[in-house]
Amino acid sequence: MSVTGIIAAAGSGERFGAGFPKAFIQLGDRTLIEYAVASLAPVVDQIVISAPKGSEDRMRELVGNEITVVTGGATRSASVRNALAVSTGDYILIHDAARALASSELAQRVLAELIAGEDAVVPAIAVVDTIKVIGSDGYVESTPNRSSLVGIQTPQGFNRRILNQAHATQAEATDDGALIEAMGGRVKIIAGEDRALKITNPSDLNTALSFLGFNSSFRTGVGTDSHAYGVGRPLWLAGLLWPDEVGVDGHSDGDVAAHAICDALLAATQLGDLGSNFGTDRPEYAGASGAQLLEETFSIITKSGYSISNITVQIIGNRPKIATRRTEAISALSRALSGATVSLSATTTDGLGLTGEGKGVAAIASALVFKQ
Ligand code: CTP
Ligand code: MG
Repeated sequence: MSVTGIIAAAGSGERFGAGFPKAFIQLGDRTLIEYAVASLAPVVDQIVISAPKGSEDRMRELVGNEITVVTGGATRSASVRNALAVSTGDYILIHDAARALASSELAQRVLAELIAGEDAVVPAIAVVDTIKVIGSDGYVESTPNRSSLVGIQTPQGFNRRILNQAHATQAEATDDGALIEAMGGRVKIIAGEDRALKITNPSDLNTALSFLGFNSSFRTGVGTDSHAYGVGRPLWLAGLLWPDEVGVDGHSDGDVAAHAICDALLAATQLGDLGSNFGTDRPEYAGASGAQLLEETFSIITKSGYSISNITVQIIGNRPKIATRRTEAISALSRALSGATVSLSATTTDGLGLTGEGKGVAAIASALVFKQ
């Protein structure tokens, strides 16, 4: 009897808001999809991943040639169906990339139930909140008895014949167990585990990191940067191009917000500063973009075992007005740091000092990092 593990990884991670698919979010030294693969690999004979449309190559690069990558669909059920079409196992384990930290032991227990003759097996944990059913009028319709409620997890296991039958209806559900129930099939519940939590919002990353044994050896760093305005160059600030603004002089693109963040990260991790890592003696960084320096810095601190807890950066200057593009700037900075939590503010100096005189723009950043 052979086993296929399907990993649904085609979601866009809208609620997480990283600006790229959730499966590619970095947790410690690996991405979520790499954790999900590592947990299924010891238990299954074949792995099929549903990748976000357009990210199939990136997915293949991350997981290697032995894993089949298919293009996901518009819904989770459609993504599972696309993977099911190329699955060869007699038993199928269906897993969410978002539940990256589920253990191999959980997958093993699901499989053991299938081998013992169950058609559908779903791990679950007791719910802690009281759940209410609400009507479209915004009023409560009922309060189910909490003791009979559970929250479901993945990997969920199925006999392939029954799963194919369930998916042949083309029905939609947020888990595959529901499709079996809809056919009148029996779904066995087994004990889930806390670490199989679904990483949905940025705050879930901290919980996930604690399961990986990242303790609280936090370190903090600050960084500042300023550049004088210089005609003839476009303004790059906070990872964005500001086409209607005067640019600044500098060795790189002069993105003071990105540079202040790099310095804060390098200071927190005691890995030098911008100059010692990317200074004028490194001609390959002449004209480097702020985003590129952030990516390089992220890779330097990650290699030394650090993860980012959060970053704040404040831009100090009369222009440009940041507020209109704050969200866009935060996602550009966060994207360059593999989804790190970034906040951005801006201020003027009441006409005083360098930036108050309108001669340039400055930024100050602080970073909080931690090590396993
Ligand atoms: N998924 C998928 N195909 C889709 C939608 C979701 O394969 N069309 C996958 C996701 O990649 C994820 C799992 O289903 O691993 C559970 O979905 P969810 O946690 O909702 O992830 P996203 O849909 O990416 O997140 P969001 O709903 O916040 O956009
Ligand atoms: Mg979703």
